[in-house]
Parts: sequence; structure tokens; C-alpha cells
Amino acid sequence: MDYIEIKDQIIFTLKNMLTEARFYHCLRVAEEAQRLASRWGEEESKLYIAGLLHDCARDLPYQELIPLLPSYLGEEVYSIPAIFHALAGPAIVDREFGIKDYKIWHAIRWHATSCDMMSRFDKILFISDFCEPGREFPEANLIRKIAEKDWEEAYRRVLKDKLFFLLAHNFPIYSATWKAWNKIK
Ligand SMILES: [Fe+2]
Ligand SMILES: [Fe+2]
Repeated sequence: MDYIEIKDQIIFTLKNMLTEARFYHCLRVAEEAQRLASRWGEEESKLYIAGLLHDCARDLPYQELIPLLPSYLGEEVYSIPAIFHALAGPAIVDREFGIKDYKIWHAIRWHATSCDMMSRFDKILFISDFCEPGREFPEANLIRKIAEKDWEEAYRRVLKDKLFFLLAHNFPIYSATWKAWNKIK
């Protein structure tokens, strides 16, 4: 599928699914992911589409996402609603956009939590979500600079930062995130 040909159609549908702020966040993540893909020799158009669609399920009600969570994820996911939109994201990408691309699905599924099977493609989306230019926290700027020189180091820092954030706020941490961390230690 030539994703660039259907880009405008995707953007039109997406705009009707999201709040305005979220829609523009998705556009910026897509642009950041495309820029990093070009820097590191990844598939630019695919990463652009993954960036556009990564949060497409974010404004849907939890009740709609729960039945779409794959059973292999285990019971623990039901206690972490903040990650439903990522884990159920591929089902929404398929249902609403007709996109059945495993690479895009995988990157979207793990964009919020990471996991121990992250490809470079997945990691670029993970980094872009954190450091798109609309992010106001100071680390975003730093990560953008690091990602220019060393995408693996940028990924490690984003993962570490997310873990710190979750712990500092007493939020639950999904086991896939711990596995992702242990994998790089
Ligand atoms: Fe997200
Ligand atoms: Fe996002």
C-alpha cells in the first residue's frame, strides 16, 4: 500500500476521532518520526503513518477498547486504563483505516509502554512521541538532540524517564515496561 497516497484521507478521518490538541500532537509525532526515519534509514512513509495513528484510539471510551485488548496481554492490563489506547490501537487502525501492516501495528501497540521486542522502527515512534516539538517538558528538547546522534541512547533515556515518572506518581507499571528495561541493562 502506498501510504502517502492515502495520507490526506487518513488525516481527515483522524481529525474526526480526536480532540484538537491530540490531533495536532499526532501530526507533530508523524513529522518527528519521519524526520528520525530519514536520519536513521528507516521507512519514512510508514513511520509517518505510525506517528499519525499512534494515538487514534486515545479519545475512545475504555468500554469500547477493553474487548479489543488481545487476551495474550494477561489480566494485569485491565488495571492500567492509560495504556488501553496503545494495546488496542492496532484493532482500531484496522477497523477505522483498513491498515493491516504488522510493523505499524507493533509500533503502535507498544508506543506507550515499550516491551522487550522493540525494533528500531518501534523505538523511533516511542522516541518521537516523547520529544515532538509541542512537548513542553525540558527533557523533550534534550532527547531530540540525542536522537540526532544516537537513537539507541535516546530510547534508553525515554524509557528511563517514563519509569521515573510512573514511580514518582505512584502509577502502576506494566510488566512489559520492566522487561524492556531489563533487556537494555
Ligand atoms: Fe499514546
Ligand atoms: Fe502520543
